[in-house]
Amino acid sequence: MFSKEEKEVVHRVIKTRRDIRSFLKTPVPEKILFQLIEAAHHAPSVGFMQPWNFIIISSDKVKKKLAWAAEKERRALSIHYENDDRAEKFLSLKIEGLKEAPYTICVTCDPTRGGSHVLGRNSIPETDIMSTACAIQNMMLAACAEGVAMGWVSFYKKADIRDILNIPPHIDPVALLSIGYTENYPKAPILETENWEKRRNLSGLISYETWGVPTLNTEE
Ligand SMILES: Cc1cc2nc3c(=O)[nH]c(=O)nc-3n(C[C@H](O)[C@H](O)[C@H](O)COP(=O)(O)O)c2cc1C
Repeated sequence: MFSKEEKEVVHRVIKTRRDIRSFLKTPVPEKILFQLIEAAHHAPSVGFMQPWNFIIISSDKVKKKLAWAAEKERRALSIHYENDDRAEKFLSLKIEGLKEAPYTICVTCDPTRGGSHVLGRNSIPETDIMSTACAIQNMMLAACAEGVAMGWVSFYKKADIRDILNIPPHIDPVALLSIGYTENYPKAPILETENWEKRRNLSGLISYETWGVPTLNTEE
């Protein structure tokens, strides 16, 4: 179905995609913005329920309100990081990003979409949020391929975001995504280069037949 080169590109985009914290004011063409949303809309979803909506925010007035909600949460979180200035710095950068990036998209999840018995969601209700996360990931990959930077913000009180964006109480604001261009698209996760966390060794995460069996038993 796909040529060798096309396959390589898919893997390259997956490995190149980064979460971005600083943005230029350079505008993002609307056409590209809608391509990213289109990519999101082609994500898999439990029972094909497509629980997502996308609120496009470009006014400084609303962006500032969102940044206020995130800043309030940053302050609340800071008690957990009393001895770690880096955590505060990482979170602050994201708040700046919310104000700087030309667009913020709030991606929401409607758990009621498709009625009370969405195929497959009966068993694991969180699959609606998982589906929304798949949409966001599609968007991030498409953005990376377009050379567009995207940053995921999830530290806020949902009630604040509902108030600011007039979102009904049953709808979940899953993510605020800053979208724009950046000067330096990082080569590695920023939390890795700042020695916060490393990518785990994949082989330690794979087991065979049952949990925690690290090698395939070929004798049986
Ligand atoms: C569900 C989810 C929520 C996230 N929330 C935040 C957030 O609130 N603030 C933040 O700075 N980064 C957030 N991130 C970005 C991660 O920190 C980032 O993906 C991780 O450090 C790995 O870096 P990479 O995306 O560049 O590979 C979030 C990512 C995911 C998947």
